[in-house]
Amino acid sequence: MRTILTGIRSNSVLTLGNYLGALLPMVRLANEHSGDSMVNIFVPDLHSIISEVDGDLRENTIRTLKYWLAAGLEMNENVHIYRQSYVPAHSELCWILDCVATMGETSRMIQYKEKSEGKASCNVGIFNYPILMAADILLYSAEFIPLGEDQFQHIELARNLAIRFNHRFQQEVFVVPASTADQVKFMGMSDGIRIRDLLNPEKKMSKSTAAENSKIMLDDEPARAAKKIMSATTDSLGRVKFDMREQPGVSNLLLIEALVTGVPLQDVLSTWAGETRYGELKKKVASSVAEMLEVFQGKFAEISDTEVYKLLEDGEKYANKVANAKLLEAQKVFGLR
Ligand code: TYM
Repeated sequence: MRTILTGIRSNSVLTLGNYLGALLPMVRLANEHSGDSMVNIFVPDLHSIISEVDGDLRENTIRTLKYWLAAGLEMNENVHIYRQSYVPAHSELCWILDCVATMGETSRMIQYKEKSEGKASCNVGIFNYPILMAADILLYSAEFIPLGEDQFQHIELARNLAIRFNHRFQQEVFVVPASTADQVKFMGMSDGIRIRDLLNPEKKMSKSTAAENSKIMLDDEPARAAKKIMSATTDSLGRVKFDMREQPGVSNLLLIEALVTGVPLQDVLSTWAGETRYGELKKKVASSVAEMLEVFQGKFAEISDTEVYKLLEDGEKYANKVANAKLLEAQKVFGLR
């Protein structure tokens, strides 16, 4: 049975970007495919500690898992949730892959460049994080890894490491994940999703951006989120058109509207074709986002910690079994076992 896998770090409350770029597409795919695929959803808590954590990491982790359930993830015997640090094989395989990866390819990772930029010194975890991510994927022989566009380069790295490892030992130890083009196709999109910063739409919406109005957080009061949309940066061209290069602010609003309402982007674009008043578009997007948050937050409030811990018990038992078996294969070919 093939495996679909993804993870979201739990450094803080998540943004609308995480929700629309990763949570929602993954929940849709999981619900669609869990009859014939394994679905693994985990919190990469070891990835969380490469940067500052807001509040208590363990509590954040439980909250992030509740987000998945609130977003509509349907649990069944093929769907597993787990915490990365509760499956030690991830760190073990990471070390083995460290000895397969090169400094050159790891240094080329855009996320590493962005996260280390301008810093006098940065921790080794920031550099090593894509290799741990490769371990997260390869341990479970995952074929599809639904992610936002910012993470595609890491999928390529995981693929390269699997291919190199298998080639070096002339054995198919690791399943090579699908190419990014096939990942995008699997997600049913023509391109990866990248929700932009509301004030500076050249950049992606990120939890680490300081300006509060630049991002919508999943625990924002719906009215507050609506205000943030109303103050989003647009442009002076006076036409509602989807053109990320020329009009990233307006295009971002159109994309948000489509994803939040579930209406295909093409249909949203036809509705707004010929409109020149950005205020009208903003009002509609603001109300769609507020409504979405209201429903989401209501569902979130109904999920108890006990429910999550119960699911984790089963998920972590499963994850350790699968991951340890794959780790042993890798250890054997390296002569460690
Ligand atoms: P993280 O926690 O930074 O981001 C989680 C997911 O949210 C997506 N995302 C966005 N999508 C669209 N627009 C945005 N503005 C936006 N911001 C974030 C990200 O693309 C991602 O899908 N390294 C990963 C976590 C990870 C992982 C893995 C994922 C660790 N191991 C194995 C999959 C498989 C990360 O830092 O994501």
